Amino acid sequence: MPVRFQLNGILIEESEVPPSMTVLDYLRESEGLKGTKEGCAEGDCGACTIAVQLPQGNVEAVNSCLMLVPQLDGLSVTTVEGLSQPDSPLHPVQRAFVDNHAAQCGFCTPGFVMALFAFEQSGEAATAETVHEAIAGNLCRCTGYRPIVDAAMSVDCVPEKHVPPALEHSSHYTDGDEDFFAPTTLTELVKLRLEHPNAYVYAGGTDLGMRASKDRESYGRVISTSHVSELKRVEQSDGSVTLGAAVTYTDALPVLDEIAPSFAELVRRIGSRQIRNLGTIGGNVCNASPIGDTPPCLIALNAVMIVHGPKGQREIPAEEFFIDYRKTALNPDEILEALRIPLPQPDMLFRAYKISKRFDQDISAVVGAFALEVEDGMVKSARVAFGGMAATPARANACENALIGKPWVFETAIAAGTAISGDFTPLTDFRASEDYRMRVASNLLRRLYHDSDENDFVTEVMSL
Ligand SMILES: Cc1cc2nc3c(=O)[nH]c(=O)nc-3n(C[C@H](O)[C@H](O)[C@H](O)COP(=O)(O)OP(=O)(O)OC[C@H]3O[C@@H](n4cnc5c(N)ncnc54)[C@H](O)[C@@H]3O)c2cc1C
Ligand code: FES
Ligand code: FES
Repeated sequence: MPVRFQLNGILIEESEVPPSMTVLDYLRESEGLKGTKEGCAEGDCGACTIAVQLPQGNVEAVNSCLMLVPQLDGLSVTTVEGLSQPDSPLHPVQRAFVDNHAAQCGFCTPGFVMALFAFEQSGEAATAETVHEAIAGNLCRCTGYRPIVDAAMSVDCVPEKHVPPALEHSSHYTDGDEDFFAPTTLTELVKLRLEHPNAYVYAGGTDLGMRASKDRESYGRVISTSHVSELKRVEQSDGSVTLGAAVTYTDALPVLDEIAPSFAELVRRIGSRQIRNLGTIGGNVCNASPIGDTPPCLIALNAVMIVHGPKGQREIPAEEFFIDYRKTALNPDEILEALRIPLPQPDMLFRAYKISKRFDQDISAVVGAFALEVEDGMVKSARVAFGGMAATPARANACENALIGKPWVFETAIAAGTAISGDFTPLTDFRASEDYRMRVASNLLRRLYHDSDENDFVTEVMSL
């Protein structure tokens, strides 16, 4: 079945290109739309940014270098060429770039314009904070960001509300050599997994996509989770929140803001908007990287992984899900269906801290997540988890033991920080040394204490 999508307002029914072709290559080589640029080919520079409108209507910026052509099925795509024609007035975002001297070269500018087009279409108010967040995934090495931010702040237009077309879904795209399956139900997904044990299970592709964009690999067979309704669910009950494994970071953020604002803040520092619009918490968890950002939070929050295979469903506590370096407890015929996060009690002290060299668009050296119940000044319970300190994200038992049953005072925090040396022997690598990792992990206990302090001790200073 062909994949159907709109490209700058024109319906495309594509049935010929290989399923492993990236959208960036497709736009440039098959469609001749060379305004979309390749800078890094790994999601870091934003030069390849395009805007996609989802069937629900929202417009989002994504990195076309990390997307495969079949992922466009059902979407309406706008590239920089779709904003204005050579003989028509510039789009207000383009006009603002010209008026504010926000562009020098043609490499970064189309990506910035598309990121800001999607931002403007979202209807969000332009503040220093929201504009910086919207362009954190776009690099400029010459003009500098001030005129670009000025341009963004000066755009004054009402977002156009296009109704996206309802396009027939393609459940199996093939060029004869490779297959891209896009099931819509969990039953179909599990069946496909069983039939094709060597296929890649593919969510947003922000980890897997690199194989096509950077390494120029063909996947052979892909099973996409993006259209499986059970994996797209966000459900809140009395005691917990359930997030389907294919829910993107962007779609998870509203509920995380509600139940665990510190977790939501950490998620806002994962990659860029372009990455968060594609990437999923499910993919982060299944990737099982020791420096993935969400696993320590899920462990500290006592989340449960709901996995599904031919024998049905089973549940695995988050702390037992990561069994070795980049290895999960999933059996080869199982997929992650969802994750369930118990609602933190209103008086729970939950904080997640990401330590990286840059604030935006950086991979963590260390992530620390802390869930403490303090009653009458005493620590009643503590769940502490770290990423970047061992081969897997893991609980810090010695640190927890130094907290539980103790008064929640500065000295306890210091002692718990010191106890972490009994939990981990971190590695030295190009992100951080063993000493640094140990010291920063230990110091996070001080920060946690000050964050819980009613005297508004300043623990984070931002300059926009
Ligand atoms: C520029 C850039 C910046 C990034 N920044 C960060 C960052 O700051 N912090 C961070 O933690 N990560 C970061 N990442 C990594 C990546 O974005 C995340 O790990 C993301 O959550 C992966 O989700 P995905 O949906 O894209 O996964 P995919 O790439 O689709 O899949 C990842 C893995 O999970 C498996 N998988 C996915 N879904 C399922 C399922 N339902 N069942 C079984 N297996 C499944 C896949 O087979 C694959 O092995 C970054 C990546 C890029 C390119
Ligand atoms: S080419 Fe750099 S983010 Fe895609
Ligand atoms: S104007 Fe292109 S890198 Fe900045």
